[in-house]
Amino acid sequence: MKRSNSFMLWFGMTVQLCFFLFIGFSEGSTSISGRRALLKNNLTQASSSPAVKLDQNHNQVVIDNGIVQVTLSKPEGYVLAISYSGIDNVLEAQNQNNNRGYLDVAWSTHEGFQQYHDSWKIEGTKFSVVEMTEDQVEVSFLRGWTHSMNGYIPINIDMRYIMRRGNSGYYSYAIFERPEGFPAAQVFQIRLVYKLRQDKFHYMAISRKRQRVMPTAEDRNSGQTLAYPEAKLLNNAKNPRIRGEVDDKYQYSAENKGNRVHGWISFDSEPHTGFWVIAPSNEFRNAGPHKQDLTSHVGPTSLAMFVSTHYAGTSVSINFEEGETYKKVFGPIFVYLNSAPSQDNLDSLWSDAVRQSNEEVRSWPYDFPRSPDFILPHERGTVKGQLRVRDWFKKGWGIINAKFAYVGLALPGENGSWQRESKGYQFWTQADENGYFEIKYVIPGDYNFYAWVPGFIGDYRYNATITIKPGGVIKLGSLVYSPPRNGPTIWEIGVPDRSAGELYIPDPDPKLVNRLYQNDPRNGFRQYGLWERYTDLYPEKDLVYNVGIHKHDKNWFFAHVARRTGNQTYQPTTWQIKFEVKDDTSGNYTLQVAIASANDAKLQVWFNDPRDVDPHFETARMGKDNAIARHGIHGLYSLISVEVPSDRFKKGNNIIYLKQSEASGSFQGVLYDYLRLERPPITGRM
Ligand SMILES: *[C@@H]1O[C@H](CO)[C@@H](O)[C@H](O)[C@H]1NC(C)=O
Ligand SMILES: *[C@@H]1O[C@H](CO)[C@@H](O)[C@H](O)[C@H]1NC(C)=O
Ligand SMILES: *[C@@H]1O[C@H](CO)[C@@H](O)[C@H](O)[C@H]1NC(C)=O
Ligand SMILES: *[C@@H]1O[C@H](CO)[C@@H](O)[C@H](O)[C@H]1NC(C)=O
Ligand SMILES: *[C@@H]1O[C@H](CO)[C@@H](O)[C@H](O)[C@H]1NC(C)=O
Repeated sequence: MKRSNSFMLWFGMTVQLCFFLFIGFSEGSTSISGRRALLKNNLTQASSSPAVKLDQNHNQVVIDNGIVQVTLSKPEGYVLAISYSGIDNVLEAQNQNNNRGYLDVAWSTHEGFQQYHDSWKIEGTKFSVVEMTEDQVEVSFLRGWTHSMNGYIPINIDMRYIMRRGNSGYYSYAIFERPEGFPAAQVFQIRLVYKLRQDKFHYMAISRKRQRVMPTAEDRNSGQTLAYPEAKLLNNAKNPRIRGEVDDKYQYSAENKGNRVHGWISFDSEPHTGFWVIAPSNEFRNAGPHKQDLTSHVGPTSLAMFVSTHYAGTSVSINFEEGETYKKVFGPIFVYLNSAPSQDNLDSLWSDAVRQSNEEVRSWPYDFPRSPDFILPHERGTVKGQLRVRDWFKKGWGIINAKFAYVGLALPGENGSWQRESKGYQFWTQADENGYFEIKYVIPGDYNFYAWVPGFIGDYRYNATITIKPGGVIKLGSLVYSPPRNGPTIWEIGVPDRSAGELYIPDPDPKLVNRLYQNDPRNGFRQYGLWERYTDLYPEKDLVYNVGIHKHDKNWFFAHVARRTGNQTYQPTTWQIKFEVKDDTSGNYTLQVAIASANDAKLQVWFNDPRDVDPHFETARMGKDNAIARHGIHGLYSLISVEVPSDRFKKGNNIIYLKQSEASGSFQGVLYDYLRLERPPITGRM
């Protein structure tokens, strides 16, 4: 393509994009074009659609249902080609066979990080046809492990592909199994990767608002590396509309609970074509509903993340002891393709992908995977009940319903252990506004019931192991969570929601923006380099917060980071909270510090006294979740309750000093979720 043509293409797309932003759209409404896309889909799903066919030769398997054709290498199980709607391969055919569609696992031997291997693509060694009917084909690529396979992950991995009649796509899942006698191993990441055609897929969509024309891999290569290799300043991008922006794949992360469908659209084909990765459930993903992970990013690349340490650190990795047995099914996920005539509005492919993802969620758990390890709907159980909260300070002496609480089942552990739990399945839902919940389709086994309630600090755990049996219904009745609380609130900063999102988020450096987030305050935290803005705002003196005058969303910087003092040099920062105590009292005050993220940080606290004495309280060095550098508004949650003898405070004006004392780099720090000072308990009341 000549340069002038490609400029025209970009220009045309930008115009379309503006039009699309101008008219807006909502997920619920079906535009004319959306309906057309649906209609096309429904027609192809009619029973008249062709039978599923399987062809194979000595090194390839081709599965075809007349809508989509998938070619896999045999016996490795790499996806070599996906042919759809006149495009012979939506994957990048210039890439090697093992670099288009694959499963990979990052792991190491148990001793730890020294032997960390960047990532390992799983190569099947034994191909078999599991099922072959006119309605459905399922194939298996098994990579078994034996003691002679030193250097390969000691897990038997069975990669499965399912194609069904009339479906515009195919399903993919993997069964991980460790029989007795396998050596120790530590797993950091499990994911499926798809690399799409670079000449066609330029537009990425990961949510209703988070959609844009993306830079190319070439734009990134010709750009300037910022503070780490993933972040690039695109100062040589071909498309003038993109030139000068920042690109970083972590700007496109999502929480598990919101990571249902994402993908790419090609306008460089007639009809326009969409490629989507749909996750119908989170049960197989690690570390609970708030765990953040990657989606799609420049490449063009689409990921189905099952397990990772992103935004959490290696404390969430999976550790297998020597001889430890294991079995878990990851997926299925659905790879969906759609198309719409090029005159349609831009949103038709996205809204059709959302419709399809809703349909997959409704059909979950699927009843068609043929592995006996995939637990079918009728073999699963249910847990229901109501959660309430007793926080006597908030509502008199009463108990209130745990409105919209997050409730879930995960392997047995301590309060809040689910956010580091990666081995087992997790089943989460959100309670209704009266705190009622029903967790359906739970895989049989032993769990703890966990919860947290927006608006309240701490973590709830039901004090008994819950054993789910096939078809069983467990009624927990009415449960009461008593969040940590020692006395009445004197002041509070922020909202207890496990995120720093409601605090002051600065604008990015104007030279380092991602334009997607410029008019999107809710996603403003995803801009690059916000950690550097603290020094810009507080070049010499640190943050001082006056209770009663200041507001958390204007005056409490979202990240307690170090101050830049020169080239790669930093100094610790000490924030002050100034407040008034109305009367003299005895007993202990309580300072509740809820932390939304910590990265190689240490918090030291002084009450009124000059700061040259030892801190009155300090934490150990804490956190490795790396949420600051990854534009996360939270990492792992923790709660610190500090008892403060009453003689540390006096009637009148008081100051609490909070020092983040670790300052060897710009990504060390703490994201506060919420802070609260409680008066000493009123005797007789507690
Ligand atoms: C297409 O099928 C879905 C259910 O599969 C249905 O809800 C929808 O109304 C159908 N649309 C059309 C245009 O027939
Ligand atoms: C842990 O759970 C128990 C029982 O629900 C609760 O009383 C306690 O406050 C929790 N602790 C924290 C730190 O959330
Ligand atoms: C939790 O369970 C243990 C063992 O069953 C019991 O000893 C303890 O009293 C229980 N704690 C609460 C708060 O119910
Ligand atoms: C900053 O320090 C690094 C090494 O710490 C050095 O390589 C670089 O040249 C320095 N940059 C400037 C502008 O002084
Ligand atoms: C106050 O806190 C200190 C330190 O945690 C503790 O030793 C003491 O027992 C507490 N006093 C009261 C009255 O709770």
